[in-house]
Amino acid sequence: MPAERSHRPAKVRLRHLQEAKEAGRTFSMLTSYDALSAQVFEEAGIDVLLVGDSAGTTVLGYDSTVHTTHQDMLTFTGAVSRAVRRPLVVADLAFGTYQVDAAEAVRHGVELLRAGAEAVKLEGGAARADTVRALVDAGIPVMGHLGFTPQSVNALSGHRVQGRDHAAADSLAEDAQALQEAGAFAVVLELVPSEVAGRITEFLEIPTIGIGAGPDCDGQVLVWQDMAGLSGFEGRFVRRFADLRGELLRAASDYRTAVESREYPTAEHSFE
Ligand code: KIV
Repeated sequence: MPAERSHRPAKVRLRHLQEAKEAGRTFSMLTSYDALSAQVFEEAGIDVLLVGDSAGTTVLGYDSTVHTTHQDMLTFTGAVSRAVRRPLVVADLAFGTYQVDAAEAVRHGVELLRAGAEAVKLEGGAARADTVRALVDAGIPVMGHLGFTPQSVNALSGHRVQGRDHAAADSLAEDAQALQEAGAFAVVLELVPSEVAGRITEFLEIPTIGIGAGPDCDGQVLVWQDMAGLSGFEGRFVRRFADLRGELLRAASDYRTAVESREYPTAEHSFE
């Protein structure tokens, strides 16, 4: 078990992520969809557990997160939240549960919090600002998600790095600003060039959390089955920390250590 540090809170709250950013400390986030993996990741010291709608692909065998339902999210959120005490538990609002109107988003957000989540994540920028505001006004903390947004895989024509040209990068930055102004407490940046993610991280007051967004984000997130070598996914931004099963606890601890020491990700996992 890695040495504990004095700034490690007994329970991770939103303010600890903000404090980490302000102190220049990176923090770690992993997906989790079940009680056992959640327990292992808590033991390894992961700060944030994301009950991601990627459960639809990693657990349920669908080919995209579009198929993950609200009921799926309630089930996985309950399993994870019942298993842990220290990490912040964030649950994805499933595709179709927040796009129609803000009232529906709040209703689904309330149900996720009742299932055990402490915050919700949704995809999209300025177009979702009113929804974010309504959730925050209802007492539901919101994490944003920009760049490659998997629920829009069809509209985005597949898994592609976003924000490569100047106009797209500026638009990403504007979306991040809009989410912050609407009250989001953090923003995931997925498949974004390092330089763009670094720029957004610098001007935003709230933390950024990168996945394929280079080493300059305030936190890092990976899908745990990719991280531990279970899924066989070989994306450039992924480092396999283990070949799983007996290796799982060792893998999560190494991941945490690598993220916290900024030893991962390096330029070789990042986009120019
Ligand atoms: O659902 C998920 O796993 C996610 C991560 C890719 C950030 O949203």
